[in-house]
Amino acid sequence: MSEKNQRETLASRLGFILLSAGCAIGLGNVWRFPYITGKYGGAAFVVMYLIFLVIFGLPIMVMEFSVGRASKRSVAGSFQALEPAGTKWHWYSYFAIAGNYLLMMFYTTVAGWMMAYFYFTLTGELQGLSTAEVGDFFNKTLANPAEMLYWMVITVAIGFTICSFGLREGVEKATKFMMSGLFIIMLILVFRSVTLPGAGEGLKFYLMPDFKNMVGNGFGEAVYAAMGQAFFTLSLGIGAMAIFGSYIGRDRSLTGETLNILGLDTAVALLAGLIIFPACAAFGVDAGAGPGLIFVTLPNVFNSMIGGRLWGSLFFIFMTFAAMTTVVAVFENITAYSMESFKLSRKKAVKINVLLVTLLSIPCALGFSVFSKFAPLGAGSTVLDLEDFLVSNTLLPLGSLVYLFFCCSKKGWGWDNFIEEADAGNGIKFPRNRVFRIYVSYVIPVIVLAIFVMGYWEKIKLIFS
Ligand code: PHE
Repeated sequence: MSEKNQRETLASRLGFILLSAGCAIGLGNVWRFPYITGKYGGAAFVVMYLIFLVIFGLPIMVMEFSVGRASKRSVAGSFQALEPAGTKWHWYSYFAIAGNYLLMMFYTTVAGWMMAYFYFTLTGELQGLSTAEVGDFFNKTLANPAEMLYWMVITVAIGFTICSFGLREGVEKATKFMMSGLFIIMLILVFRSVTLPGAGEGLKFYLMPDFKNMVGNGFGEAVYAAMGQAFFTLSLGIGAMAIFGSYIGRDRSLTGETLNILGLDTAVALLAGLIIFPACAAFGVDAGAGPGLIFVTLPNVFNSMIGGRLWGSLFFIFMTFAAMTTVVAVFENITAYSMESFKLSRKKAVKINVLLVTLLSIPCALGFSVFSKFAPLGAGSTVLDLEDFLVSNTLLPLGSLVYLFFCCSKKGWGWDNFIEEADAGNGIKFPRNRVFRIYVSYVIPVIVLAIFVMGYWEKIKLIFS
């Protein structure tokens, strides 16, 4: 098959927005955002996060889409296609691909938790449990290796099955359906959560910035976490978004499209917080409880609702969908990469990767049982924390800078090419004035690197303390 025949395109503009939003919206919004916000002090953290979304996330997403659209390649070939002859930008492709796998190594486990909780809620297993029992239930589930493996394998299998149907028939169709339900169910839950008795304290924690709260874990670490979360939630830095740029035509400007996606993603994260924090306050759950936060909070909310079993099941099924749209998007990237690099058919690429991703996901799935003694980032930490840290706080910010330098530097693809691609089509244009160019080319990298160094430093101190 020639290169030309191999490359599929998306059916519609809506398909593109939903797919990209589907990739962005996922566990990052509903699982990671609330627990990280809870850990690093609430509203003040949210403010930092929102600032980073706009000042870093927005321009970098436009860059990723531009690289994808101009090259018509996945991250495996995009740098090679656009770089000036003789340069080595394409070396980054290997890191980006590794990043996609590394992300899936823990994402499949947490997506599996969502699926498991859908099942538990549907079958009524959590009904009538006290707040403490809900917490115990979560810990017991995690400590059961067979159960963890089971849900993880199902996640991988479903994700790759959707991919094997192809871009339009599989990925695009499934995503459209899944995204719409999530919004509706979240609005209903926000209403229930903020009207719980005692919800006010939680709202205050979430919405009234108190920068003293951020200092608890070290201010540097909190700022670093906010930056990591901003890159994570927008899926930036490892070509996960770029791939969708490679599937569209040039009829819309990329800045306009990016604004849509950023808006959708932020709305879902903020809604998730509005559900979780009032509920934490109402049931006396510690907002800093860590990765289990939504699983030890929400079942209490459902238990307090008329028809809670129904609402709870709906929540977890749509959450599973949101996670799956991200899984499918990243699997699509992995599949496309394997097809391009090894000249494989889609089916073959899928078969090989099902095995590979399943194997790679085992350490995280067993990190709470078999490997629970392994605490790579200090007492109580797990494989999950390590993998998440390597992706969110290392690869995504540094990878985003690679995209940035590639687009801004004469030694890379270059500013003019980038602007030309970003602005092709109708819609909002990327700001071109000198001040903005200096901001993008110099100010962003300096701030990102400064936060990065500061964050690593605090992390190292923590590990060895
Ligand atoms: N943005 C996704 C989420 O919020 C996670 C992700 C990160 C996906 C990086 C791809 C690349 O769940």
